[in-house]
Amino acid sequence: MKRKHSLVLVPLLGLSMALTACGSDDSDSGSDSGSSSDSSSSEGSGKIGVILPDTESSVRWESADRPALEAAFDEAGVDYDIQNAEGDAERMTQIADTMIGNGVTVLAIVNLDSESGAAIQEKAKSQGVATIDYDRLTLGGSAEYYVSFDNTVVGELQGQGLADCLGDKKANIVYLNGSPTDNNATLFAEGAHSVLDEISNYTVVGEQAVPDWDNEEAATIFQQLYTAADGKVDGVLAANDGLGGAAISILEGNGQAGKVPVTGQDATVEGLQNVLAGTQCMTVYKSATQEAGALADAAIALVNGEEAETTGTTEDTEGGREVPSILLEPQAITKDNVGDVIDDGGQKAEDVCTGKFADLCTEAGIS
Ligand code: BGC
Repeated sequence: MKRKHSLVLVPLLGLSMALTACGSDDSDSGSDSGSSSDSSSSEGSGKIGVILPDTESSVRWESADRPALEAAFDEAGVDYDIQNAEGDAERMTQIADTMIGNGVTVLAIVNLDSESGAAIQEKAKSQGVATIDYDRLTLGGSAEYYVSFDNTVVGELQGQGLADCLGDKKANIVYLNGSPTDNNATLFAEGAHSVLDEISNYTVVGEQAVPDWDNEEAATIFQQLYTAADGKVDGVLAANDGLGGAAISILEGNGQAGKVPVTGQDATVEGLQNVLAGTQCMTVYKSATQEAGALADAAIALVNGEEAETTGTTEDTEGGREVPSILLEPQAITKDNVGDVIDDGGQKAEDVCTGKFADLCTEAGIS
C-alpha cells in the first residue's frame, strides 16, 4: 500500500532534500553516453541519477532501459541524469561522486558487483542522497528500495522452458550462468535448478559462471564444456540472450544449432530472431517500461518524502536485512508468443523481422 506522510516534503532519513530546481545540465557527469533533462514541473523538485552497468553484458541497458527510463522520468516531469559505467566499477564510483556533487536527491544504480555498489550507496547516504537498487540487489548495501523482476521466477521460467523443449527424454544439460558478481545470476541459476533438478532423466554435464556476462568468453567456456562432454549435450540453460547466442554459435560450428535447445533472457532482437529461427528455445521478456516506471515511482516517492508502493521485501543475505522491494513478473517467450513482445512495445517488428526473418515473422503472425 502506498502510504503518504502528512507533509508533502519531509526529510527522509535525514536527507537534505533539494527544494530548489536543479538547473544545471550534467555534461560533466563522467560519461559521453549520458542523457539528462531538466524540468521544473516535478512535484518535489528533486533530481534522479541513474547509473547503468555497461553496454556489453546485454544490449538491454542502452536499447531498452535508457529510453524507458527517459520516458518514465519525462512523463513524471522530474529531472534526471542517466549515465553508463561501461563495465568499470571505478568509473561507476566516479559518476556517482559527480552526480552527488551535482545535487541528485536520489541515486539508482545497477551495480557491477556488490562491494563497489555498497560503497557507492554508503557514500551517497553520508551525503544525504537516497539510493535505489535497479534490477540487481546490492548485497550488504543500503538502498531504500530494490526495483526488479522476480529473478528466481526468471530462472524457473528458463528451467521450465528448457524442459518443455527437451521433453521427457534422457538429456545432458550444460549451464552457462551469468556473472558470479551479479546476485541476479545466482537467483537465475537457483530458479532453473529448482525445476530441472526434479527431472530424473536430466544430467548436468557442465556448469560455469561467465565473468561479467562476457559473451565472447561465454563462447570459449561453452566450447570447453562441450568438448569436455564429448559433444553429448542435449540442452543448454543459458542465463541471457547474449550467452545463449554464444552457445548457439558453437553449436552451429558443430552442426547442432536448432537440434539442441538453448534458453535466454531479455527478449533482445537477436534472441527473438533466434527463437523464431528455432535455434533458441525460449527467452524471458522483462518489460523495461514496467521496470523503469517502477523505478520512477519509487524515486519520486523518495524525492517527495513518501513511501513507495512495494510488493514485498527481499532478503539481503549479506547485510542481514529485508529490503523493501518492487518485484515485477517476467514472461516466458517461445515461438508461439514472440508477437507479445512486439505488441507490448518491447521490440519493434521492423527490427526483428529483417532479412531472412521476414518470412518467419509472417509465419508467426507478426507484422
Ligand atoms: C539482468 C539481465 C541481464 C544481465 C546482463 C542481469 O542482472 O537482470 O537482464 O541480461 O544482468 O546484463
